[in-house]
Amino acid sequence: MNEARIGVIGAGRISHVMAAAHAQVPESRLVGVFDVVRGASERLAEKFGIPRIYDSYQELLASDEIDAVLVCTPTFLHERIVIDAANAGKHVFCQKPMALTLEQCERMNEAAVRNGVVLQVGFMIRFTPPFAEVKERIDSGEIGDLIAIRSAVFGWEPTAEWFYDPEQGGGLLIDTIIHTFDLYRWYAGEVETIYADGGAYVFEGARKHGTPDNVMCSLKFRNGAMGSIYGSWSSGYGDKTLEIYGTKGSFFIDLMEAQGGRAFIKKDKQAPSPAEGWNNLGVLWKFGYQQEARQFTHSILGRVPPSATGADAVEAQKLAMLADRSIRQAAVLKV
Ligand SMILES: NC(=O)c1ccc[n+]([C@@H]2O[C@H](COP(=O)([O-])OP(=O)(O)OC[C@H]3O[C@@H](n4cnc5c(N)ncnc54)[C@H](O)[C@@H]3O)[C@@H](O)[C@H]2O)c1
Repeated sequence: MNEARIGVIGAGRISHVMAAAHAQVPESRLVGVFDVVRGASERLAEKFGIPRIYDSYQELLASDEIDAVLVCTPTFLHERIVIDAANAGKHVFCQKPMALTLEQCERMNEAAVRNGVVLQVGFMIRFTPPFAEVKERIDSGEIGDLIAIRSAVFGWEPTAEWFYDPEQGGGLLIDTIIHTFDLYRWYAGEVETIYADGGAYVFEGARKHGTPDNVMCSLKFRNGAMGSIYGSWSSGYGDKTLEIYGTKGSFFIDLMEAQGGRAFIKKDKQAPSPAEGWNNLGVLWKFGYQQEARQFTHSILGRVPPSATGADAVEAQKLAMLADRSIRQAAVLKV
């Protein structure tokens, strides 16, 4: 197989980002779309030259002309569609969060494993510069042993009420901070304990559905490193800062300023060794989703090992669910 023929299920906001990203991957071809709202299918099809609009996702999954699907529906619909797609023998890219409960995530992952299909979850931060390079440099031992990792994660105010709802979108922890749980596991390995605090400080939707709009979370990794995350939907600006401290050096990444900013690496704590810099303005939109699309396409074609897999998403989900429980119980929880 030299080309992946891909169908899109759910043609809302993120599907346009995904379609634009796949347009940058020569071996990927979007060949079909289904959305319950016909006009949404038509808009995506027209904008990206997708030749066929299906009348149901089952019809799309039954097509021999489709190798893989991008699942871009609201979160509460992910489980059914992903399992049906895996059972139909299609490779699956599922937008994050994978689902709303750990049990759902595990069932989805099992379906992919049982059917021998690739299941990638939309953790595009892994593919956004400089995060992938940071991973390589941590793994190469350049900053020594990890001491601490700290991040402030800013999401935008949700565009729809379902994002706050534990039954539909999962709220801030599961919808947005899940990216950071995945990134932390990728960088620092498995987590031993987690404690979170948070509340619905600003938004009526969060109050109504009993999910937080601001969260502070502390983690301890099995390797002894410490972690902390401050997550907010109400800061008024998007994106994140990330600091990583090791015994031989440190990284500081600032993706503020409209998805841009600078990244500094200080390799050596001895002054006057200067920090190195990155300057990656707009990296998320320019590279993150495209690299993610390339990873999915190339793993379907058997060219690279899978990344951001169903198994990874199950582990990230555990952390989000435990952090949620930690807030409710005001307790430090063992993973
Ligand atoms: N990775 C990221 O950066 C990122 C960013 C935004 C959203 N997301 C995730 O993507 C998913 C979709 O979010 P969105 O912002 O695009 O939402 P959206 O509401 O803009 O789009 C969802 C689309 O799904 C369609 N839909 C609803 N039920 C359907 C069904 N049964 N079959 C087919 N289509 C159906 C809707 O008509 C709508 O067009 C969510 O899980 C969200 O958390 C990920």
